[in-house]
Amino acid sequence: MTTFSKGLEGIVAAETAISYIDGTNGILEYVGIPIGELASKSTFEETVYLLWNQRLPNKGELAAFTSDLRARYSLPAGMLERIAGVPTDAEPMHVLRTMVSALSMYDPNPNENTVEAARDKSLNILAWTPSIVAAFDRGRRGLEPVTPDTSLGFSANFLYMLNDKKPTEAMVRAFDICMITHADHGLNNSTFTARVIISTLSDMYSAITGAIGSLRGPLHGGANEGVMKMLNEIDSVSDAEAYVMGKLERKERIMGFGHRVYKAKDPRATELMTLAKQLADDTGNADLYEKSHAIELIMEREVAAKGIYPNVDFYSATTYHCIGLKLDLFTPMFALSRIAGWSGHVIEQLADNRLFRPTVNYVGPHDAPYIPIDKR
Ligand code: COA
Repeated sequence: MTTFSKGLEGIVAAETAISYIDGTNGILEYVGIPIGELASKSTFEETVYLLWNQRLPNKGELAAFTSDLRARYSLPAGMLERIAGVPTDAEPMHVLRTMVSALSMYDPNPNENTVEAARDKSLNILAWTPSIVAAFDRGRRGLEPVTPDTSLGFSANFLYMLNDKKPTEAMVRAFDICMITHADHGLNNSTFTARVIISTLSDMYSAITGAIGSLRGPLHGGANEGVMKMLNEIDSVSDAEAYVMGKLERKERIMGFGHRVYKAKDPRATELMTLAKQLADDTGNADLYEKSHAIELIMEREVAAKGIYPNVDFYSATTYHCIGLKLDLFTPMFALSRIAGWSGHVIEQLADNRLFRPTVNYVGPHDAPYIPIDKR
């Protein structure tokens, strides 16, 4: 039995109880709960618990999970020196990928693959990655790293470590919503990468490192940086029409639009659109939102018939900008959140593993003669 599907479109390659996507109707659920419910009512910590346990925690469970995460905020000794040693002009995604790989060397049992060990490693990686990104960003600005504050939640602590200043409630909530909405998304490319790697019974660090490498591509998580670059190229709302039409005529892609699974508006884009508008108004960036919205309307008129709508990356760009993040930190933000989903999928894969090993259609020659080198 062989089926060839370029890009594996339409191929069911795994089973999951973590998230569900209905691409036709624009629905995303984490363990059955619509993303809009979680974005408006949950916290990132609670959402991670949901993804890893496939149920919401009660008060005691959430308090224990949160304090366990906070107790792990500080990086292993030696990691800060390692981060300080990387070139300051390195791309943050390359730094994050390299440093997550390096974390394996500080784990006395990096290859332990029991479900319990995998959960423990996931919690460490989730707790440490914000410190990696913040320490690198401060280092390249000539600033010392900020010691994490265990009295703060995941989102507040990250923004505090980045800026050495306690963030406002509004910024923390906005960042938390970004973390919630990016946490998991079916068998997307990076999650598939993580599952493929762990299916050899490799290790959690290798799986997450590979997933970060996948995520940074402009067709995947790297698109949020592409959206921001596009918004920067458009001087004002009135220029959006000519800009978008020019790109479509040249058959170029508009970043933040289109999706392999969604043929309707990505529900995460709906959540982030509301958030982006509010933040843009509050931070004096209304022009960014207006440009984005103008692009969405032009795209709706031109390509909605082909099922091309805004995806998660479209409005997250404006949101991250308004939170005060530098452009090259946008994709690392996606990674900080998606670590929750990747590790949930690794744990799920380990619990019922079978090696991923597809086949390939060979299209080269057969029985070719071996020509000696001096006759070629
Ligand atoms: N802008 C313009 N046209 C687009 C488009 C975009 N962002 N995304 C897809 N299309 C068009 C393609 O040109 C193609 O048109 P054609 O049939 O006339 O040639 C058609 O839609 C199908 O595209 P295809 O590349 O086969 O779809 P895919 O499922 O392989 O690709 C993405 C999905 C996400 C890679 C693609 O939509 C894309 O490149 N989007 C921009 C990057 C992005 O935002 N990525 C983040 C995803 S969350």
